Amino acid sequence: MGQLLSSTDKRTNYCGELSAANVGERVCVMGWAQKQRDLGSLIFIDLRDRTGIVQLAFGDNTDRAIFDDAFSVRSEFVLCAKGIVRRRGEGAINKNIPTGEIEIEVDEFKILSAAQTPPFEIVENSKVNSELRLKHRYLDLRRPDMQKNIIARSKISKIARDYYADNGFIDIETPNLCKPTPEGARDYLVPSRVHKGSFYALPQSPQLYKQLLMVSGFDRYFQIARCFRDEDLRADRQPEFTQIDTEMSFVTADDVMKMHEGFLKYLFKEYFGRELEGDFLRMPYAEAMERFGSDKPDMRFGYELTNLSDLLASCEFKVFAGAIENGGSVRAINVKGGARFTRKEIDSLVDFVKSYRAKGLAWLKWNENGEISSSYAKFLTEAENEAIKAKMAAEPGDLILVVADKNSVVFDSLGALRCECAKRMGILDPMDFKFLWVTEFPLLEYSEEDGRFYAKHHPFTSPMDEDLQYIDSDPARVRAKAYDIVLNGTELGGGSVRIYDSAIQTKMFEVLGLSEEEAKEKFGYLLEAFKYGVPPHGGLAFGFDRLVTLLLGLEDIRDVIAFPKVQNASELMTRCPSEADPAALVELGIAVVPTEE
Ligand code: AMO
Ligand code: AMP
Repeated sequence: MGQLLSSTDKRTNYCGELSAANVGERVCVMGWAQKQRDLGSLIFIDLRDRTGIVQLAFGDNTDRAIFDDAFSVRSEFVLCAKGIVRRRGEGAINKNIPTGEIEIEVDEFKILSAAQTPPFEIVENSKVNSELRLKHRYLDLRRPDMQKNIIARSKISKIARDYYADNGFIDIETPNLCKPTPEGARDYLVPSRVHKGSFYALPQSPQLYKQLLMVSGFDRYFQIARCFRDEDLRADRQPEFTQIDTEMSFVTADDVMKMHEGFLKYLFKEYFGRELEGDFLRMPYAEAMERFGSDKPDMRFGYELTNLSDLLASCEFKVFAGAIENGGSVRAINVKGGARFTRKEIDSLVDFVKSYRAKGLAWLKWNENGEISSSYAKFLTEAENEAIKAKMAAEPGDLILVVADKNSVVFDSLGALRCECAKRMGILDPMDFKFLWVTEFPLLEYSEEDGRFYAKHHPFTSPMDEDLQYIDSDPARVRAKAYDIVLNGTELGGGSVRIYDSAIQTKMFEVLGLSEEEAKEKFGYLLEAFKYGVPPHGGLAFGFDRLVTLLLGLEDIRDVIAFPKVQNASELMTRCPSEADPAALVELGIAVVPTEE
């Protein structure tokens, strides 16, 4: 049993705030024992709270009972200590911590709670496997780096609220129990007890509610909103995540982009004290694909894609000529300095592109000493080889990597390969922030598998005025008033100007293969609302977790979420999802169908 905190035990300072300026003051600190060192007649305890560590000292002047208590302290005991701040002896100064010049000579002391030995040490940069850490997330969150991340998240959230509130955005909560909002993922369904056999969906985003709020006349809306999507997890995806979600009335795409660019600039100013100069670069989707093979290109480095199809259409090498003949292309990147990759490393790049469905990767390595080796050169004429080198601006030290296939595979594989090579070349600085707006996305995306079009963004996104004429004759050609904000190869946010004309909205549903009946059943309330005077409107949502991850120079979104889920969408600490109480299922009118495994 721990000792009780009494009404006179009032904390005066956080541990990490104390410094030489406090020498001579009587203070009261509380926190966790990082470490206890017993030197016989002296005991030192490093006491930790969310601000840092301070040293508690117990010695000849210490009351016997207190000394005995200090002797019994183990790591992670929770303590309350009072005493006088004094300067440490010359040899005892620790330059590594801010409080390293001082210590507290303890004269009142309580062990508020004891602690078992934790399953892993509470230290920065833990090497412990993430499964164990997540199982005991409350301990993992006690570690200074996790505390720093979560506190930074709170700070960034405050900066966002300030910016949007200052710009006239009204914070409005939208329901979590709602009708499905299509953002392209599977829905999480919630059964209704009252209406047996009926279900709510958890929102994939507040999309339709925020549009309806524009119909209501709120003009500008924002919300830090939780979204739920049942999709496969990756390092930058969680089944529930947070958006900074916004919508504005009477705006064009340019207005929306400027407003949110303003937020990112304000954020950098407030958070890093750093000015982001100039306007963010904007690039149409088609150009991003052509130059980078990606709709979220990392702009921190080059290695741009070059189309070699013109040079190779009539070459003898089947792999290249065949791909072009079948309507595909041959494209390449020049990894500057990449000649230093070994054969083994190049082989692993070949495996890498295969995971993007490429059938192979052709390469040419031009060593610094002028020596050339290549997997494809012998299949081409000297003139063709020279033409490739010239077009790729190749020089000694370079590595040329070529993929021939249908365009979607060429873009996917080279787009990913360019980033992989940059990573392996060690040229990526996570704290070098290169923003990019990608604009003019295609309105629709054709699924070969399903033989139909899907909305690339969502079905409420407006076509570009000049492309509307092709919506029946050539739907794939229609571009949308949609934009993504991309940071260092990650899609940080996305949005669009919306359709506000019910005729166009109905047309859109038609192109998506939704019958009038279905459209009415699913989105009738929206079409109905559009009959009563709807302002032109548009908006954008940032992935808040992603924003924080990138700002902190991290890679895993889980490091900025207090209680994240793992790859298979379960949460290791509380062990959910879990089976439901049979009685609860009966009450909900639900029967569980046994599965094969
Ligand atoms: P979108 O679907 O592009 O747009 O989502 C906006 C941003 O949310 C983030 N995001 C995610 N973050 C973590 N885990 C996920 N599973 C996940 N899915 C998306 C991304 C993404 O850019 N309603 C529209 C916005 C609008 O049109 O205004 C929407 O949700 O950073
Ligand atoms: P092969 O004739 O299959 O031995 O291939 C010769 C070279 O071309 C090898 O380096 C292969 O990796 C490469 N290659 C095979 N298919 C492709 C492709 N679709 N695109 C680019 N290179 C390829």
